[in-house]
Amino acid sequence: MTSGIRHFTDLSAISASTLRGILDDAVARKGRLKAGERSRPLDGKVLAMIFDKPSTRTRVSFDVGMRQLGGETIMLTGTEMQLGRSETIADTAKVLSRYVDAIMIRTTSHERLLELTENATVPVINGLTDDTHPCQLMADVMTFEEHRGPVAGKTFAWVGDGNNVLHSLLEASARFSFNLNVASPEGSEPAQKFIDWSRDNGGQLKFTRSAEEAVEGVDCIVTDCWVSMGQEHRARGHNVFMPYQVNEALMKRAKSDALFMHCLPAHRGEEVTDEVIDGPHSVVFDEAENRLHAQKAVLAWCLGAGA
Ligand code: CP
Ligand code: NVA
Repeated sequence: MTSGIRHFTDLSAISASTLRGILDDAVARKGRLKAGERSRPLDGKVLAMIFDKPSTRTRVSFDVGMRQLGGETIMLTGTEMQLGRSETIADTAKVLSRYVDAIMIRTTSHERLLELTENATVPVINGLTDDTHPCQLMADVMTFEEHRGPVAGKTFAWVGDGNNVLHSLLEASARFSFNLNVASPEGSEPAQKFIDWSRDNGGQLKFTRSAEEAVEGVDCIVTDCWVSMGQEHRARGHNVFMPYQVNEALMKRAKSDALFMHCLPAHRGEEVTDEVIDGPHSVVFDEAENRLHAQKAVLAWCLGAGA
């Protein structure tokens, strides 16, 4: 953030105290919204949203969030833009910066996000890349704390594919000081650079091949799809991932009041059973709701807006 522009690219790029401040603001904003209070701190501001991949939650929560803050959005898909006819990301960033106040992008390679960030003169928000999904983790930490109090010192377990959501969870574990156990099958581990960054920044991490071992006595079990968007070419047989399915037997190994989290969309019968995702431990729809509140706080931070 050398430019002084407040980009929200990754949890690793923003200090722990700033992230905590954003979460506190998210909780306050949610409380005020539920109390029926309305304010328009982003009146007249416009957010451009670029989607190179599908989305339900990210798209709708940013759109509604921006409206609740008094601003507006413009929805763009890569294929409908000149970006899809080989205009560069850098030129696109420079042009959009002349029109809008902030840009949210969901895209493929992380390099595209970074190139957009380097060339934009307005804040850029990461709405998911192949590498990370920081907005999701803001909502997830908020959700955990709503149900169980401070996350610091608690233990999470991730079971399944070592994907973008896990990478941001690795960063979150360091930024918010919780322990993280990871169980993934061979060949589906998270990228080493996220493990190294987390450990270098205080992350307390354990890795195992055994889902049962990873979830023993934890406060929260997290999983995600076995095949992420754009990763279909590296899809592997269900037999590889089935030992990582979160079912009632696995859930029972965690603490009796453990939470179950999933960023959604879920593939029921694959990474999670109906009994777990619809059961008493699951907070998946609170996570989805909190995308709205957390991102409103992210938008307010990026745009330097108060209440
Ligand atoms: N969890 C999440 O980012 O959902 P969408 O893909 O629907 O945006
Ligand atoms: N890991 C998933 C997350 C979807 C919100 C994906 O990238 O497809």
